[in-house]
Amino acid sequence: MHRLAILLSGRGSNFVALADAVDSGEIPDARVVAVVSDNPEAPGLAVARGRGLAAHAIPREEGMTRSVHESRVRRILDAARPDLVCLAGYMRILSPELVEAYRGRILNIHPSLLPKYPGLHVQRRALESGERESGCTVHYVDVGIDSGPIIVQRRVPILPGDTEESLSARILEQEHLAYPEAVNAALARLDGSRD
Ligand code: GRF
Repeated sequence: MHRLAILLSGRGSNFVALADAVDSGEIPDARVVAVVSDNPEAPGLAVARGRGLAAHAIPREEGMTRSVHESRVRRILDAARPDLVCLAGYMRILSPELVEAYRGRILNIHPSLLPKYPGLHVQRRALESGERESGCTVHYVDVGIDSGPIIVQRRVPILPGDTEESLSARILEQEHLAYPEAVNAALARLDGSRD
């Protein structure tokens, strides 16, 4: 049984895509063992609770250092013993220590064709640069920003008249297909390395 942990900060649609893929067997023989959010108000957290999953809010309270906050997140992760940690709209940068502890087992999804447009507001930046296509990337997390080895990319056209919203929605549809695909690829690789 493969164990997946999800970290999110907001809407949680990629989390839902992963949880649905687990439930439907598209990601076979797997279980979501923890959903963690730094934002107690994250809609994704409420959805996780509604689905009966172990959902944890770890807010960074006033005066709490980044490292204390992360150590709380880490405690939950370690206790959940995940095979993979899936970042799904998690708006915090992980420390090198956490990345190292879960090396090769942390995935992130990003709404651009990396290495183009790492960082924030990437759909707007792609439009402003006059790109003809965009897409999404699922990659392993390393200590850089949106920079680890790529697992899956899916492309979409940029159409005349596109706005940040219309392009984001077109990319998001592909994100929901790309993430389960990438999780399956990462789990297969993990199983291969354990043989
Ligand atoms: C997605 O666009 C993802 O690529 C980016 O943050 C957004 C999260 O959306 N990292 P959701 O919370 O999964 O709906």
